[in-house]
Amino acid sequence: MTQAFETLAIHAGRDSDKTHGSVVNPLCQTAGYIFPSTESAAKRFALEEEGQIYSRVSNPTVDAFEHKMTALDGGAAAVATASGMTAITYAVMNICKAGDNIVSSPNLYGGVSNLFKNILKDYGIEVRFVEHDNPENFRQAADDKTRLFWGETIPNPKLNVFPIHEVGKIAKEMGIPLMIDNTCATAALCKPLELGADVVVYSATKYIGGHGNAIGGIVIDSGKFNWQSTRFPMLNEPDPSYHGISWTDQFKEKAFITKLRATMLRDMGGCMAPMNAFLFNQGVETLSLRMQRHCENAFKLAEFLSTHPKVQNVVYPGLAGGHTQKWAEELLSGYYGGMLGVDVKGGTVAGQKVVESLHIFRHIANIGDTRSMAIHPATTTHAQVPKKEREQGGITDGYLRVCVGIENIDDLIADFDQALNKI
Ligand SMILES: Cc1ncc(COP(=O)(O)O)c(C=O)c1O
Repeated sequence: MTQAFETLAIHAGRDSDKTHGSVVNPLCQTAGYIFPSTESAAKRFALEEEGQIYSRVSNPTVDAFEHKMTALDGGAAAVATASGMTAITYAVMNICKAGDNIVSSPNLYGGVSNLFKNILKDYGIEVRFVEHDNPENFRQAADDKTRLFWGETIPNPKLNVFPIHEVGKIAKEMGIPLMIDNTCATAALCKPLELGADVVVYSATKYIGGHGNAIGGIVIDSGKFNWQSTRFPMLNEPDPSYHGISWTDQFKEKAFITKLRATMLRDMGGCMAPMNAFLFNQGVETLSLRMQRHCENAFKLAEFLSTHPKVQNVVYPGLAGGHTQKWAEELLSGYYGGMLGVDVKGGTVAGQKVVESLHIFRHIANIGDTRSMAIHPATTTHAQVPKKEREQGGITDGYLRVCVGIENIDDLIADFDQALNKI
């Protein structure tokens, strides 16, 4: 019997405590493992037998988190990583090398934008940016060196929802995988793999953990993409880094994830700490409840702010109209996410005054926590971006990024009202 999201969030994942039977998945805080025999050790190294070798490559607590997340997203397999940025870097590098290109929406988290614009470029991988409001832009920008399409479900700060289903169709026609960063929606609102994406990545640091106490990431593969084509020699031709193995021949639907673990994770080492996996395993149990409350609170706060005399403009998918609202309605299970943008009248001085006057909303450069947070991007997260470029990206001088927590909504509205009235 297939189980619903809320049930899987609590029960899916391996029970790794065969010894004591503890009900909470235990923390396995070890670097190495005792091999049962030399034969078993050799088989594990040759990838012929499942089992632990060393916690850089896998660990029972991390393994439980990977299985839970795979079940929640409806994937085939997953690899957890040290951070969301590690997950993204490894997902791309797993199939791209110098001379290749990727086509991406420019509406990205700042760290990813920098990775794509500068670091990948230095390593010879070109990123072609196309606006996703016209999905056909992806088809037009692609060529035979294109290895993947990239987008974020709810990109920050514009919050202009990415049409996963539409770009997914084009990707399928062209034999190019669509990779989606689903951090700001989570599988509680949106399952990219069911909508046409092939690989989904997360910063687990945000809503998945949900309590702002650990950094981590994860890559989940649908197992349905055909990696056999000539576009993906790194997966289907002999790999010298693993005694000439062809990942697709040997691992079929788990080729992408097995290679990521056996090469990226083994050789670059960005593994998830067991303690963080322990915290994520607990956090994810309440994910759907938390997401509902985040979204309900955000909608009510957005409505309140949109009529406030000190507010110029509110950015929220549920009030956006046009493509964004339509795609949000098609993709986000009746919700619109827990983040909003508010452009206060009076530019930088007014924006900073509001941040300083808020009591419940904490002044933090993070998102996806139980608590509400606000920040003034023009002088912090986006201070290095030239003003013109910043404003094109929707970040005006009076713009505040607001991540709405799960506190009582009346308290949140009252807090924002008193802060706005201090301008
Ligand atoms: C959408 C998105 N993706 C990826 C990341 C990077 O995640 P991490 O901070 O866990 O490396 C972030 C971080 O803010 C993010 O918001």
